[in-house]
Amino acid sequence: MTPRANVDCVPCLLYCLSFAILINMEDLKKRISETMSFAITQIAELCSLEQLEGVRVAVLGRKGDFAQIAKMLGTVPPGDRAEIGQLLNDAKRQIESQFQSRKQSLERLQLQERLAQEWVDLTIPVSGVQAGHRHPVTIIQDELEELFMSMGFRVVDGPEIESEYNNFDALNIPAEHPARDMQDTFWLADGHLLRTHTSPVQVRALKKFGPPIRMVAPGRVFRNEEVDASHEHTFYQLEGMMVDRDISVAHLLHFMKALLSSVFGRDVEVRLRPGYFPFVEPGFELDIRCLVCSGVGCPVCKQSGWVELLPCGLVHPHVLQNCGVDPKEWNGFAFGLGLTRLAMMRYRIDDIRLLQSGDLRFLNQF
Ligand code: PHE
Repeated sequence: MTPRANVDCVPCLLYCLSFAILINMEDLKKRISETMSFAITQIAELCSLEQLEGVRVAVLGRKGDFAQIAKMLGTVPPGDRAEIGQLLNDAKRQIESQFQSRKQSLERLQLQERLAQEWVDLTIPVSGVQAGHRHPVTIIQDELEELFMSMGFRVVDGPEIESEYNNFDALNIPAEHPARDMQDTFWLADGHLLRTHTSPVQVRALKKFGPPIRMVAPGRVFRNEEVDASHEHTFYQLEGMMVDRDISVAHLLHFMKALLSSVFGRDVEVRLRPGYFPFVEPGFELDIRCLVCSGVGCPVCKQSGWVELLPCGLVHPHVLQNCGVDPKEWNGFAFGLGLTRLAMMRYRIDDIRLLQSGDLRFLNQF
């Protein structure tokens, strides 16, 4: 049944009011209640929002049934007008509230129907999507973090933008010290710099946690260098430090050996040379036999057959002092592993530039 048809059958007996006949009060009340029960039945039965709105307009609209009835009010004896007016308003309010609640439930129903149609099975496998995987440097970094955590080291993090003090001064490299030239630095306009090594994390960790401490800090470092097959302006290191009582070079060597045999899964030929770094004393360079060319000579080892992989040493007393640690009571070792170089050795990558190239033909091999 369409609303129009329904609405048309609303009793409209009293159109003749335009003739200004004084109306019988009971007739008027009857008409109000009939109109109301008609409207309420319609509202309850209708199932579409359009039909519902049709009924609302036909009953409550400007030219609707109640508007017609209201016109008759003028013909009601003045003493009865208040009562009829009240009746009329109550009826309108009731219909309006029935209308609103029916409308809401119809809308809810419609929404449910729509949602039921839009149902998506998220478990259906999608074809043609390639999952990403870890970068070779990340693979080695993850492995080393695991290894060092298993030996009681904590993994700490530091910012890539560092203060001059943490990157140099606290590490016993004061301004004008020639060692500053060993690390070509990207200076920022505000006097900060892009850290040239992960060693400033030693300073941060010592100050924050104090001794005894075992920590590793993997991260990205930056040097203002000419780029070629074995040099990049951006590469990865893994800093390590252990500060405790009576630490010796033997402790250092023990951990370095554990590190190398875990990464390579076999013995690699190593050599230890004295090395100079202002923040360690004594300092060493631990080199490994180049695994890219098996020691014959290649661009990676600069034709020498050896690759500098693990600069290390015993923490300089000045560094401990600068971090508020008493060097008479505590000492330790530190190392700065070249993570990028290690990845190159392990996977026999002969050009460092490939690692940051983003070239999928290269990356998909890992
Ligand atoms: N920070 C040094 C570098 O990047 C490496 C290093 C770390 C040396 C710790 C000794 C001890 O050159």
